[in-house]
Amino acid sequence: MPVYINGKPVIDTDGNIMHCHGAGILEHEGWYYLFGEDRRGRSRVSCYRSRDLVNWEFRNICLTLDSATKRHYVRTDLRLAPMNSGPMTPEEAAAVGLQPIGHRGANIERPKVLYCEATGKFVMWMHFENGRDYNAARCAVAVCDTVDGDYVYMGSFNPVGNMSRDCTLYKDEDGTAYFISSARDNADMIVYRLSEDYLTVAEQVKTLWPGQFREAPVVIKEKGRYYMLTSQCTGWNPNQGGVASADAIEGRWSAIRPFGNETTFNTQPTAAVKVGDTWLYIGDRWDPSNYLNSTIVMLPIKFDGGSCSIDWADEVNIDGGKITASAREISDVRVMLPGCVEYLGSDGYSVFTRKLGYADPALIWQREERDGSLLLRHKESGKYLSCEGILDNCRDGESRFLWEELRGEKGSLLVSRFSGKSLLVHGRRVILTDAEDRHFEGYTFVKNY
Ligand code: GAL
Repeated sequence: MPVYINGKPVIDTDGNIMHCHGAGILEHEGWYYLFGEDRRGRSRVSCYRSRDLVNWEFRNICLTLDSATKRHYVRTDLRLAPMNSGPMTPEEAAAVGLQPIGHRGANIERPKVLYCEATGKFVMWMHFENGRDYNAARCAVAVCDTVDGDYVYMGSFNPVGNMSRDCTLYKDEDGTAYFISSARDNADMIVYRLSEDYLTVAEQVKTLWPGQFREAPVVIKEKGRYYMLTSQCTGWNPNQGGVASADAIEGRWSAIRPFGNETTFNTQPTAAVKVGDTWLYIGDRWDPSNYLNSTIVMLPIKFDGGSCSIDWADEVNIDGGKITASAREISDVRVMLPGCVEYLGSDGYSVFTRKLGYADPALIWQREERDGSLLLRHKESGKYLSCEGILDNCRDGESRFLWEELRGEKGSLLVSRFSGKSLLVHGRRVILTDAEDRHFEGYTFVKNY
């Protein structure tokens, strides 16, 4: 039975790591085609295909900095790269939050592809930036006669004059296609109905959740109802996902409700696909410290009363049309503080807080049970958290390393077995405080997904 393992890189059928991020998925002639970001060298959009979502075959780099271009029937900017562009310098890469992995030129994000029955062509929409910063805020279009061929780039533009960043495409059952993207510096989510050939915008039809700053849109239609998944705007760091629903795309959308946990299980929405009767959520697990280590997470979606939800699963079994998901016992915990995470001070033992790349090993803690108490081992240093709020080597039987975890609605609190004091975050320091001061929001333990 094909099993998809979440949080691990996918090795394609040639034995290479799959690079396909911010991806979109298209079903075509019995295959799932995945189009996504590949930022290495001059590559920009890669394409893989699979029959089971587990075994992926590399097909093509469908868009590169050297792709053929063709003028659109609206005024667009055809430039993909400056003349003779070479590798980015570390400074240039850092300006767009990356390692120096690509050549100077367009930064292409979140490519999505639809098949247009009216023209018989495959049409790709994407987010375009100039590769130096995020100020262009444009969408771009490319087109191809075959699903995984070399796409012809038709240029970038601001739809209806708007900024356009994180985006998705949605094709309704009657063939009407929509492009949906974050506008006004991400404050609004705008829905555009596309022209019949899907090559440009016919009309701006909706402004969703104005001023609510949503990104990473994904649209699903289930039993006649539309659902839109989105994230908040925290760059490469994960946040609480959201879902809203409506009877019609151009109709009245509900308010946004939480989707997944406070980090959407350390993912950001990018796509969804229906397998048999089950929808699978597809999210990016970004690695801000090394973009190329980012992975793809797939989780089955449950629908209930006009909303939908996901639970964590380590593995997703895809057996023909049937999907079952299972979570192994979790032994690591991630200590997460609002807006920041922990690290070990330069003195080697103080525990401080600061913003870290989400996948930084300094924030992984391992949970150990001893005599009915909890011990927390800092994975990177191998040391244990003591009742003084410092990291130290732990000798057997030392009660200063024993903690009790009290669970509240918003997280849990650690109380020292030795002193009865509880661990809290105060400014940038982790401190111990008397039991009366317990404040469950100050310190949140979440599972290490
Ligand atoms: C995210 C966005 C990604 C990428 C990133 C850059 O919020 O969803 O697609 O643009 O920011 O920081």
